[in-house]
Amino acid sequence: MNKGLKIVTIGGGSSYTPELIEGFIKYYDELPIREIWLVDIEAGKEKLDIVGNLAKRMVEKSGLPIKVHLTLDRRKALEGADYVTTQLRVGLLEARKLDESIPLKHGVLGQETNGPGGLFKAFRTIPVILDICREMEELCPNAWLINFTNPAGMVTEAVLKHTKIKVVGLCNVPIGMEMGVAKLLGVDHSRVRIDFAGLNHLVYGLDVFVDGISVKKEVISQLTNPDKAITMQNIHAMGWEPEFLEALNVLPCPYHNYYYKSGHMLEEELKKFREGNIRAEVVKRLEDDLFELYKDPSLDIKPPQLEKRGGAYYSDAAVRLIHSMYTDKRDIQAVNTRNSGAISNLPAHAAVEVSCVITNDGPKPISMGELPVAVRGLVGYMKSFEEVAIEAAVTGNYNTALLAMTMNPFIPSDQIAKTILNEMLEAHKDHLPQFTLR
Ligand code: G6P
Repeated sequence: MNKGLKIVTIGGGSSYTPELIEGFIKYYDELPIREIWLVDIEAGKEKLDIVGNLAKRMVEKSGLPIKVHLTLDRRKALEGADYVTTQLRVGLLEARKLDESIPLKHGVLGQETNGPGGLFKAFRTIPVILDICREMEELCPNAWLINFTNPAGMVTEAVLKHTKIKVVGLCNVPIGMEMGVAKLLGVDHSRVRIDFAGLNHLVYGLDVFVDGISVKKEVISQLTNPDKAITMQNIHAMGWEPEFLEALNVLPCPYHNYYYKSGHMLEEELKKFREGNIRAEVVKRLEDDLFELYKDPSLDIKPPQLEKRGGAYYSDAAVRLIHSMYTDKRDIQAVNTRNSGAISNLPAHAAVEVSCVITNDGPKPISMGELPVAVRGLVGYMKSFEEVAIEAAVTGNYNTALLAMTMNPFIPSDQIAKTILNEMLEAHKDHLPQFTLR
């Protein structure tokens, strides 16, 4: 008899939790979950209670025999887990506010996963995820870690490098791009497949297929129209110059706006900063509204307002992945995993975001050959940056941190790098013990 699966979600108090619960309910027939443990820390207890009770109401409405546990006891939750998902935010939204606003104050891009903000998110997050992995090694060594926590690519690489835990890094950008193409062409999502290769939030669609036939040319010509831009709620998209995109000849992801339109994106962000509307502030208001809704004891579905967050399709991506792993479905999904030669001009040990065959034994990356010459430099350079950033996150070495900050392409000089680094180290010191305890 199948005893059913134990799923643990760390950062269970996140406003995204109803996404995940909806997905688990939808797939229950093929993904028999016995218990879901939503775990959070003391500072997140109130949110955990509110969203956790909504999760319980959603499950109750479904009539399924899934037991939802809410707890602050991470070790108890991890014991015997089959899948552990991580969706935590170290320092909560206040930390995101600092990540976005401090660089902008110095005229530098302030973004959650790019630039200095992304670097500091890595500094705060990687040690916490590694701690979780050490507990997993002890309490559920065979469990899979499905990490959604940003910066998802760097977190995945840190886990691969420093732990024994089996990990998959997951992002909604690939599924969002496939959904975007489906909408653009007016076809069902199931008919679209994109060959993805690159890094998290820096992934390219090397080719696009509908029913196995390449439609890349048509998609590229449509993406030059600003009204047809494929993007996420958190990224302002402007449409690409036709000649540029035709010459690039691969599909950029929404985050490429920060690289190929860096001047415009910075202007946009500075404007929002002056208006008191950086994304962290917008998200704070959205979250406050969401939690007000979640408190309503008659609410027992995922409210549509959640779609205003950048994480659309996240439940589809997450549950589709766990389902394919559990059932050994061997379908194709793009995830963050060890390259192992799939992208031949990136290091074999590196975490990459790439189309994979999803099996019971994890994702098996599909060979994509070499990245085209126009993009291989940027991707390779950002992988070097990520490796240096991870080293700084793990060691707490100041010089390595300054090196990573200065290497970041959004930073104009080593002096500005140092100013921003020092200010952010001070602002985030409560969440950076590896730096402050040295
Ligand atoms: C995108 C990214 C996610 C990120 C989200 C932020 O969807 O792919 O990695 O978490 O945006 O959205 P938010 O609503 O928090 O700005």
